[in-house]
This record gives sequence, structure tokens and C-alpha cells, in this order.
Amino acid sequence: MILSSSQSIRQILRQRPMAAGLLEQEFEFHIWNRMEEPLSDLCRENGTDTHTMMQGILALTPPPAETGWDKHRTYWLIDLLTREHAAFRDTDMPAIQALLEEERRLPHPDGFVAHQLAEEFAHFRADFEKHMTDEEEFLFPKILRNEACFQYPELEPEPFRGSVNLYLKLDRHKPDEAFGRTLDSLRAKLRNRHLHRDTAELAQRVLAALDGFAHRLNAHAALESGILFPRAGRLEQELYEGSAPGMSRFPGDQ
Ligand SMILES: [Fe+2]
Repeated sequence: MILSSSQSIRQILRQRPMAAGLLEQEFEFHIWNRMEEPLSDLCRENGTDTHTMMQGILALTPPPAETGWDKHRTYWLIDLLTREHAAFRDTDMPAIQALLEEERRLPHPDGFVAHQLAEEFAHFRADFEKHMTDEEEFLFPKILRNEACFQYPELEPEPFRGSVNLYLKLDRHKPDEAFGRTLDSLRAKLRNRHLHRDTAELAQRVLAALDGFAHRLNAHAALESGILFPRAGRLEQELYEGSAPGMSRFPGDQ
């Protein structure tokens, strides 16, 4: 993670959603109206020491996986999900791709099959990276802003910039379903091969890496589909229509 005070509020929140709490404490709702401006500008105008603010952001503790998410603002959970994306992007997927590339160098016919598997995984990887980028660049910031509108009545929602509910309707089950299908197909192809001894050992390593990744991805998808998305959907519904039961933009209204 490379954080700098010359980055915009949006760039900082993309890397560390937990920083929202600290930034709101210092700048209140203004951070949500000045997302494209560098943190250093806000600090200067506010008389805040930029170095101290950066140290505070860098020192933020990541929320543990077993946090009671309902008790906290959504930036807690989004912080965890963002860190998991980084692990998928930087660790899990490159490791699997490297194993498949290693297998690809085997002589024909094993190398040929491995070549096809590596291509298949590369396609999945590209799609999944795009999906994570969409979440980080559109969905997560949109959820954070919607939620901030409940905290600060001065803040206007931005329906003209898209809808959480519409996005979820179109996209929410894509990554886990697509991954499940790719994993099944890769496993079947590895199983069905008549393998030489070295290849079989490598195939086992690929299968183990795929299993580990699938397990982590399923847990991630469960947090998104089971906790974050329903909550974000209800928040937006209330914000745009004032219709969600038990939630109000203005505490005390009900
Ligand atoms: Fe995700």
C-alpha cells in the first residue's frame, strides 16, 4: 500500500476505507464533497497537521474477520473486503497462474493440456480483476457515500451517479458463480488426464492452490452477498425513496 498526502481523498479511501472515520472526525462531511482533492489541501485549509493525519491513517488497525459488522459503519467491512481483494490480486491468482505456467512447460500431451488450463485461468483472472476494480471504484465508494448521508443531513445523495441496487441486481452473483464454474472445469480437466508422475504431483499442487483460493473467495462472497449488499441496498432504498422499514435518514424521525 502506497499512501501519500498528495493523493485524493478518493484514492486514500480506495486503499484504506477505514480512514473514513478518521477523516470525518477531522473534516466532517466535507470529505464526501471533496473526494477528488488531495488530502494535503484539506489539511492546509483546516489547519490540520498533514504528517499527523497520515500517521493516523497508516496506524489504523484492520478490522478482524470476526467483527460484529452490524455494530459498525460499513467502512469497517469494506476495509476487510478491500484487503481481501488485494490478497486475491497479488497473492492467490499470481500463484495459481505461476503453477499453471510451470506445468505448461511439460512435454506434449501434458504441456498442451496445461497450456489450455493456463489460458482458461487467465481469462477468469482478467474478468475477476475487472469485477474487483468495479467494486472498488464504483460500488464501495457509492455505499460509503450513501451511508454518510445518514450521518450528515447536509450531504446530498448522488442518484445521478448510479445506483447500488441496480448494480447489485445486475452483478451480485457473478464472481462466485463464474469462479465455481471455472474451478469445476479446471479440476475435471486435471482429474481426467492420464498423468506422468511429475505431472501428477504438479497437478496436485494446482488443485490445492485452487481449493484454498475457492475457500477464501467463497468466504469473501458470503460477506458481500450476506451482509454488505443487503444492508447497502436497504440504505439506498431509504435514502432515495424513504421507504425502507426501520431506517431513517434523520435519527429521531421515526
Ligand atoms: Fe469483492
